[in-house]
Amino acid sequence: MTIRLGGIIAGLAITLVLVLWSLLPGAYNYAFGPAPEKQPSSYFYEHGEGPAGGFAFDGAFGKWDVAQLQRGYQVYKEVCSACHSMKFVAFRNLKQLGYTDAEVDAEAATWTVPGIDPATGETTTRPGEPTDAFPSPYPNAIAAAAANNNAIPPDLSLMTKARHDGSNYVYDLLTGYGEPDPAKAAKVGFETPDGLYFNKHFHNVNIAMPPPLSDGQVTFADGTESTVPQMSKDVAAFLTWTAEPSLVERRQTGWFVLGFLLFATALAFLSYKQIWAGLKPKKS
Ligand code: HEC
Repeated sequence: MTIRLGGIIAGLAITLVLVLWSLLPGAYNYAFGPAPEKQPSSYFYEHGEGPAGGFAFDGAFGKWDVAQLQRGYQVYKEVCSACHSMKFVAFRNLKQLGYTDAEVDAEAATWTVPGIDPATGETTTRPGEPTDAFPSPYPNAIAAAAANNNAIPPDLSLMTKARHDGSNYVYDLLTGYGEPDPAKAAKVGFETPDGLYFNKHFHNVNIAMPPPLSDGQVTFADGTESTVPQMSKDVAAFLTWTAEPSLVERRQTGWFVLGFLLFATALAFLSYKQIWAGLKPKKS
């Protein structure tokens, strides 16, 4: 009898502790009020959604839109390469975008890469070769920082892998410039510091990269209108390709492997039936 009573009391005590424990956060908030006002920067941050309609390579059956990758390359070449290198991408990789060997040779030659004078050994520049990588416009990191308000433009080869949901992020970042809501800014006394630019999709909303794109900045050969969202989407797709050129291939291999496993399972089942066919006990 006493043992049973003790058990009930112990059970009640444990339940009580658990209930109190679950109420603790609420009680804490009640006692100390709501969380303090967020920092002004995160107050203005907005999570982006990526381009309307998504990318052609999205999803398990996604494919590269080669025309889009070519447009994205053009945006990179004419705009972004003024500040950003792509040291893990070589000119010859452009062959995957549908350019012939001769076109790649000609394209590489339009770029200037660092070289060494064979006679004197001094550093100089020379036209690019297919095996060269997309060069940095700056001789070194100090020069890059000095030209960009102390921020070094990062290499873009793997950028879409280096950020969460990178393809959408690059699109959001490029379309995220603008002015902070004046009423909100006045309320929290927020100002974008000199030399930085307001961008609602950058984590601290003050970025050292000036808005790189404006409507009509490049002229696409295929007649696509070069609005900021269009160029942003194209260059985001291009940078997805540079970061993982085998993305589409990898997914297709996945489907093949799944199909093969299915086939192998069916085969294993049939051979099991075959092997045991004669040995099954007959129902009497
Ligand atoms: C005038 C130079 C300049 C140009 C042109 C430029 N950028 Fe930048 N970019 C920068 C600088 C500087 C930073 C570093 C910003 C910072 O850390 O505040 C940066 C950062 C970035 C980042 C990284 C943001 C992050 O999350 O850290 C991406 C992505 C990027 N740029 C993409 C592009 C693309 C795509 C283009 C072409 C459409 C482009 N940039 C053109 C200077 C430039």
